[in-house]
Amino acid sequence: MKTYEFCAPCLIGVESIAAGEFRRLGFENVRCEDGRVYFTGGDDTLARANICSRYCERILIRLASFPADNFDLLFDGVRQIAWEDYLAPGMAFPVKGYSLRSKLTSIPACQRIIKKAAAERLMSKRHTAWLEESGPAARIQFSLIRDRADIFLDTTGTPLFKRGWRTEGGVAPIRETLAAAMVDLSRFRGDMHFLDPLCGSGTIAIEAALKARRRAPGIERRFDAQCFPFVNPAVWSAAREEARAGEMPSPAVIEARDIDPACIRRAEANARRAGVADMIRFSVADVTKSDLSAFRGVLVTNPPYGERLSDRESVHALARGLGRALGSLDGKSVYVITPDPEFESFFGHRANRKRWLYNGMMKCSLYMYFPAKASAHVHA
Ligand SMILES: C[S@@+](CC[C@H](N)C(=O)[O-])C[C@H]1O[C@@H](n2cnc3c(N)ncnc32)[C@H](O)[C@@H]1O
Repeated sequence: MKTYEFCAPCLIGVESIAAGEFRRLGFENVRCEDGRVYFTGGDDTLARANICSRYCERILIRLASFPADNFDLLFDGVRQIAWEDYLAPGMAFPVKGYSLRSKLTSIPACQRIIKKAAAERLMSKRHTAWLEESGPAARIQFSLIRDRADIFLDTTGTPLFKRGWRTEGGVAPIRETLAAAMVDLSRFRGDMHFLDPLCGSGTIAIEAALKARRRAPGIERRFDAQCFPFVNPAVWSAAREEARAGEMPSPAVIEARDIDPACIRRAEANARRAGVADMIRFSVADVTKSDLSAFRGVLVTNPPYGERLSDRESVHALARGLGRALGSLDGKSVYVITPDPEFESFFGHRANRKRWLYNGMMKCSLYMYFPAKASAHVHA
């Protein structure tokens, strides 16, 4: 079986979590850099990575990496790739990418050069002057970083955070991959009480339930590489069977609450589609009027951010209300993601640790409160 070098882009801050998952899956040569995790393996690794990865955005095969500070070098490097091995006749091959700190800055121009080089190679190998592109797509991605070009083939297609169950998002839903990373950081195990009191469309609670049940996030969806001619079709059913065999019942008590009944209806529908509705108790509740002092377990949540000044006041009132509802943090693990630098003073407790995480393009902190050590009180 041929060995490939894979590159899995992820949100900044999530790299080590994603690398840990790939190591647990037994992948080889796992290493990470900012926003990317690399590993090696064959077709079976390609299928398992797509089906099992909870934290990455897509799985790419790195086809080439070479210096390219001008269009000639970019063209030559791309033309050397054996595209005829990767693209079947009739396949479409759109090109996307980005450039950072490089001399080649025009993305449309780079796209044209890469497309032209791949097309010329295919036409010369196939002895034709015309390429039909009416078939399934194999998306080419490129990055130019400090004048070095990396050329990738995207095996995923629709990004991995689109698990297929969140058809109803509501306002400001968090990305599923980020929700999964927060659940991982909270050290939630399937035998604990879990609560998201500001659940919106239910993403965090649903990711907690999927993890507790050990359900692979991509088990129900399709991937572009299922149409790739060089991937043995048998690897997909083998990877899905292996993932199904790893599922287990979970005694976890998972609760998802929100002040808005429409959010709770959406969250319930999403949980049904994800196949975990039986694991989650949904209820309408205003957290600022709740008494969570007796709660023992893991609370992971994503409060509204409030970009305008007037919104910021209600965001601070909500942080204060959440702190009051919880009272003492003894016996509670609390994880709150927010870009608000003043969160701790309104919540009333200094975090045991903070970790940078990006919610899309927004730099946020995950405020982490551990149950063992009583955290210091702070007052706004
Ligand atoms: C940023 S959204 C959460 C998004 C969620 N993580 C998702 O993926 O859909 C914040 C949620 O807090 C809810 N909320 C605001 N104030 C609340 C309160 N006092 N009690 C309970 N929920 C509240 C809002 O209705 C909204 O759904």
